[in-house]
Amino acid sequence: MSLSLIGQNAAVSVTLKLNQVFATLKAKGEPVIHLGGGEPKSLAPIDAITAITSHLNSGEVRYAPVDGSIDMKKAILRYTREHYGRMFEPENVIASSGAKQALMVALQAILNPQDEVIFPAPYWVSYPEMVKLCGAIPVAVVPEDGTFTPRMQDIEQNVTSYTKAIIINSPNNPSGAVYPASFMKEIVQFAEKKGLYLIMDDIYNTLVYNGVSVANPYDYATDFSENSKLIIINGVSKAYAMTGFRIGWAIGNKRLIAAMANIQGHQTSGPSILLQKAAIGAINGVQSSTESLRTTLENNRKVLIQQIKAFDGLNLIEPEGTFYSFVDFSAYDKDSTRLSNFLLEKVKVLTMPGVEFGMEGYLRISFCGSIKEIIEGMDRIKWALDPKSPNELFIGERKLVRDWN
Ligand SMILES: Cc1ncc(COP(=O)(O)O)c(C=O)c1O
Repeated sequence: MSLSLIGQNAAVSVTLKLNQVFATLKAKGEPVIHLGGGEPKSLAPIDAITAITSHLNSGEVRYAPVDGSIDMKKAILRYTREHYGRMFEPENVIASSGAKQALMVALQAILNPQDEVIFPAPYWVSYPEMVKLCGAIPVAVVPEDGTFTPRMQDIEQNVTSYTKAIIINSPNNPSGAVYPASFMKEIVQFAEKKGLYLIMDDIYNTLVYNGVSVANPYDYATDFSENSKLIIINGVSKAYAMTGFRIGWAIGNKRLIAAMANIQGHQTSGPSILLQKAAIGAINGVQSSTESLRTTLENNRKVLIQQIKAFDGLNLIEPEGTFYSFVDFSAYDKDSTRLSNFLLEKVKVLTMPGVEFGMEGYLRISFCGSIKEIIEGMDRIKWALDPKSPNELFIGERKLVRDWN
């Protein structure tokens, strides 16, 4: 069989693969706990459900415009005005099947083979693969000061004549870091000065805790012309707990958005009209469910941080946003894939290996599950890793016996 170079080299999404492993173990009745999850557990907003149901009941479920229905665009424009204080026109907006597709078509619209795309580590697992799918070259920049906050000097050092774009994701998956306004200002100004595309992946922009605020890139932009290379990505997956609805979007200059729409038109056509209706319902509806999700996550975060702090040998830079913490487990094992496999095999707890996010020795531990899962999951991890643990642990009826040191 002959596969294309892209077909041969496209790597599996490890997060999606591990989710699958988890689902299989759960279906077999294994007492597994998912501490690696990437989606909130709350229900979709009621306004999303009524909007999709009423459209479905009409029986007229047809193709949607390739770049999103006009109502979808209006809802996104309203959201953008409310959250970013900026008015754009419908031609500046494209709705896609998830923020993932919005990102992918944006990259396809701007990258040529051999172009380079810079993003700080730790990074979302899909960035390197998406860039490679465009034949371009991912350039991950690990902050040299050991924090999760990128510094301009680290980024500048990696800019070459091939650099085409920078992707910034704050609040960040997997670290939960919210990049300071000073950095956001510098990066927006730097990208403008150098003529680089700046893609802001803002999918977690409202999931922040303890009064932290997320800097608004438009506050620092000076170019709002058709030459602007600032692209904002967002969607309903995370803040509205609507991961399965697959609606995301991009805001950018009109020529770029038109090119993205052309690409999307040949890939998937417009996102499903039903799912757009649901997303419109969520964005335009009562916002109390998003605030209640945020409060739940804030509480979960506190519990997870307590658990981690009570654990000798773990290092944590506390997350300020998202629903992830990126914990340094290198005192226990420097190989995060081996450690993650070990924890799943021995104590049935799923975590995500840090190496997939560009930093070895870390595990991504999520706090989007229930408090019970967070506490029990962390207790099991502690039991597995602490040599002073008792020899036995009961999970329900099942007795686990330590046969390792
Ligand atoms: C940083 C980041 N960007 C984009 C996405 C994709 O979101 P969506 O579900 O809307 O495709 C995710 C999902 O995990 C993410 O973590």
